[in-house]
Amino acid sequence: MRISGIGSAVPRQIVTNEMLSSFLDTSDEWITTRTGIKQRRVITEEKFEQLAVEAARKAIADAGLTPDSIELIVCSTTTSPFITPSLACIVRESLQIPSPAMDLNGACAGFLYALDAADAYIKSKKAKTILLISADNMSRIVDWTDRRTCVLFGDAAAAVVLTDAGDDFRAILLRTEDNGTCLLAKNSSGNSPFIKEKTEPIALQMEGQKVFKHAVASAQADISKVLKLAGIAKEKINHFLLHQANIRIIDFIRKTLGLPENKFNHNIERYGNTSSASIPLLMDELYHAGQLRRGDMLLLNAFGAGFVSGACVLEWNK
Ligand code: UT7
Repeated sequence: MRISGIGSAVPRQIVTNEMLSSFLDTSDEWITTRTGIKQRRVITEEKFEQLAVEAARKAIADAGLTPDSIELIVCSTTTSPFITPSLACIVRESLQIPSPAMDLNGACAGFLYALDAADAYIKSKKAKTILLISADNMSRIVDWTDRRTCVLFGDAAAAVVLTDAGDDFRAILLRTEDNGTCLLAKNSSGNSPFIKEKTEPIALQMEGQKVFKHAVASAQADISKVLKLAGIAKEKINHFLLHQANIRIIDFIRKTLGLPENKFNHNIERYGNTSSASIPLLMDELYHAGQLRRGDMLLLNAFGAGFVSGACVLEWNK
């Protein structure tokens, strides 16, 4: 499998930490020192699905392809406003892609989960060209009166086109562990007359410190395991693209590995945590900034609600 095209789209509205402190008991100082976030993008007038479509259109054009050459659409999202049709079906219709389309819920690690699924399709020769979109609309599921969560997230979409033009993925691993009540959001119970106990929807809630500890532990374990699976030394990795959840988590991992800062690019300061869009959004920025060279080795790692986590090592050959 090879990444043959990449694109992304973010909402126009920038929301700074100062803007948040005008209606929440928070401050730029707290958010910056505890998370590294300075601002995030939040959907206002645009439609979430339009962002996903725009990212997909850019990725297909970047691959030098047309929509009719896509054989499968996989969309990783946890926050689409649509329960049905799937976000992948909406993108399919909008871009007139004549392929099957499905969504996958891998929370913040969704990009890794979708890559693994795509890899299986390509290896089994069920598809040669796959459109993978990671899009999340976190501003829709957080409680904007809860300073412990709403300051952390942002909205974004990013997409890649995967083809069988190369054998660039050296290893992908996925892991799932018990989540308990650490990180959850819930739909309402609906109005079925057969349910006695009605429940209201629950906005995203998180036990920050527990999740922090879990994130650090899973990242350390996944990175060490994926390096072994790929048979490559950590020093040979040119870029570590880690889930952009907290700069302190990224720094901790970097220090544990004993590697220089320039291998750990980040954009959390500008976008916050964009859930499954986080890694491909960073990848797209690095690519367009000319920082990814053919032959570079990349290590991707993400964790999220589930608990899910994953990592992969790939050679960049776009
Ligand atoms: O992608 C999904 C995965 N999610 C994550 O990876 C998040 C992992 N967790 C974290 O990144 C951190 O735990 C947080 C950024 C969420 C919180 O940082 P922390 O250093 O663990 O802070 P804390 O939860 O221990 O809270 C410290 C204090 C508390 O006040 P008291 O009890 O000490 O008086 C909080 O109420 O900070 C308070 N606080 C805030 N103060 C100002 C919590 N949120 C805020 C806020 N502004 N936005």
